Amino acid sequence: MQHSKLSRLLEMKPCGEKIAMLTAYDAAFARLLHEGGADALLVGDSLGMLVQGAADTLSVKLSETAYHVRCVRAGAPDAVVIGDMPFGSFQASPQRAFVNAAKLMAAGATMIKVEGGAAFAETARFLTERGVPVCAHAGLTPQWVRAQGGYKVQGRGEDAARVKNDAEMLQDAGASMLVLELVPADLAKEISGALQIPTIGIGSGGGCDGQVLVAHDMLGMTPGKKRFVRDFMADGGGVLAAVKTYVAAVKSGEFPAAENAF
Ligand code: KIV
Repeated sequence: MQHSKLSRLLEMKPCGEKIAMLTAYDAAFARLLHEGGADALLVGDSLGMLVQGAADTLSVKLSETAYHVRCVRAGAPDAVVIGDMPFGSFQASPQRAFVNAAKLMAAGATMIKVEGGAAFAETARFLTERGVPVCAHAGLTPQWVRAQGGYKVQGRGEDAARVKNDAEMLQDAGASMLVLELVPADLAKEISGALQIPTIGIGSGGGCDGQVLVAHDMLGMTPGKKRFVRDFMADGGGVLAAVKTYVAAVKSGEFPAAENAF
C-alpha cells in the first residue's frame, strides 16, 4: 500500500494538488499525522533536537534514525515514510550511501532523503539506479551548519544560480522529490516551475509544490518564533484538529502566507 501511495504522491504535482508533509519520530504522532491527512511523514534528523535535545542534527546516528523509522512505520503502516540520512552516513561514497539507505528501507522507509546540492547528484543517481527512491534536499542544508556558521537563507542575489543548478542536477540524477529549505520565495517558485519533480518548501514560500514543517513547531511545542512556522494549535482544539487545519491550509495555498517567506 505504501508503494502505491508514493506513486500517488508523485502524481500530485501534475494534478495541481499541493503536498502536505510533516515530521514524525514515533508511533503515536505518526498515527495522528497520518489520520489528519499528511501526505508523507519525514523521520527527519531534526530528531536530534526534538527528541534527543541536541543543539543541532550532527550527532544523530544511523541506528537511531532506523529505530525512529521503525516506530513511525509501526504507527502508520500505510504512510509514505521518508528516512533522513544522518550526517556521516552518505557523504563518503555512493556505495556507503547505498548500504546505509538499505538499512533505513529495511526499517520501513519508503524513500530516503539526502541533504546537499550538486555534489551529491552522483549519490542520488547511484541510489535511484539501485531501487532507492530519493528525496533530495537543497537550499539550506542544516548538516552544514558548522561549516556555514549558522542557518541562513540560501540563494539570494548571485547565489540563486547555484541553488537552481543544484536543483536541476539532482532532478537529472533521478531524485523523485526535492526539499527546498530557506530559499527566497521568488527563486523557489522559479525552480518549482522549471522542475518536473515536486518541490517541498520549508521557509521557501507558497510557490513550492508542497510544504513540510517540523510537527513540534506546527503544534507550538518549541520555544521562540520562527518566521516560516505557524502555530496551528494556537486557536485551541486537539492535535488531530491542528493537523487537519495544517493540511487544509497547505492544500488551499493559504499556508505559507507572504509573512512566512523570505
Ligand atoms: O530534519 C528535518 O526535519 C528536515 C526538515 C526540516 C526538512 O530535514
